[in-house]
Amino acid sequence: MKHDIFEKRPMVLLIGILMVVSIGGLVEIAPLFFLSSTIEKVQGMRPYSPLELAGRDIYIREGCYNCHSQMIRSLRDEVERYGHYSLAAESMYDHPFQWGSKRTGPDLARVGGKYSDAWHVDHMRRPRDVVPESVMPGYPFLEKRKLDYSDMDKRLQALRIAGVPYTDEMIASAKADVVAQVSPDTDESKALLERYPKAQVRKFDGAGGDQPSELDAMIAYLQMLGTLVDFTKFDAAGPNLR
Ligand code: HEC
Repeated sequence: MKHDIFEKRPMVLLIGILMVVSIGGLVEIAPLFFLSSTIEKVQGMRPYSPLELAGRDIYIREGCYNCHSQMIRSLRDEVERYGHYSLAAESMYDHPFQWGSKRTGPDLARVGGKYSDAWHVDHMRRPRDVVPESVMPGYPFLEKRKLDYSDMDKRLQALRIAGVPYTDEMIASAKADVVAQVSPDTDESKALLERYPKAQVRKFDGAGGDQPSELDAMIAYLQMLGTLVDFTKFDAAGPNLR
């Protein structure tokens, strides 16, 4: 029996197994390198504005991802609770991504616009003031801390190396854009909106003063999550390159 060659010589069997497995691997992996894009592009996705990015950095610093995911799976109970399932393109500018695997709290992928800024201010201060049974810790210090955005241009630059399409203009105006996003009805905020369509411009933490707090950045980030792609125009059946 020819099978004897494999069954009596473990090394030959091992090499045979490796050959079979690597053919399977090549068939699955190689095409990904030749597709012009492995992530389907969708209309509306853009890189984070500097203020949103600063909020995201605080989200990571505070470990919010330990209790919150940002990925809605395509299962009926999730879609009915959180909205349209997450698209790969929606986290294409996230480095590192915040999909998460632990849900002590709800998924946040589409939390943008679900609550008012004032709700978020109260909730961040003392979650149990708005949700009595909550086990989320409070983050009352965020509103007291001035946002440090002195290296915002460098943070954009670093993300550009990772493939996020920040332009020279976006990098040059990064620090000014942080302030512009909390200064409604100014020329600076209009320029910001041209660079970052759909960015929300207002004082998020409800406090006075021109200098943004860490809470401003956090709420700006939470309020934009999941708001960029217009799902009335998204067609899951085919490429959406309009
Ligand atoms: C120990 C786990 C835990 C951590 C850490 C945590 N959360 Fe939560 N979060 C929860 C729980 C539980 C809820 C649901 C009850 C509530 O609304 O407070 C929640 C709710 C929320 C909601 C409301 C979501 C909705 O759809 O109702 C937001 C927004 C939120 N958290 C943001 C954050 C942010 C931002 C951080 C980090 C600064 C954070 N959370 C850290 C557990 C956590």
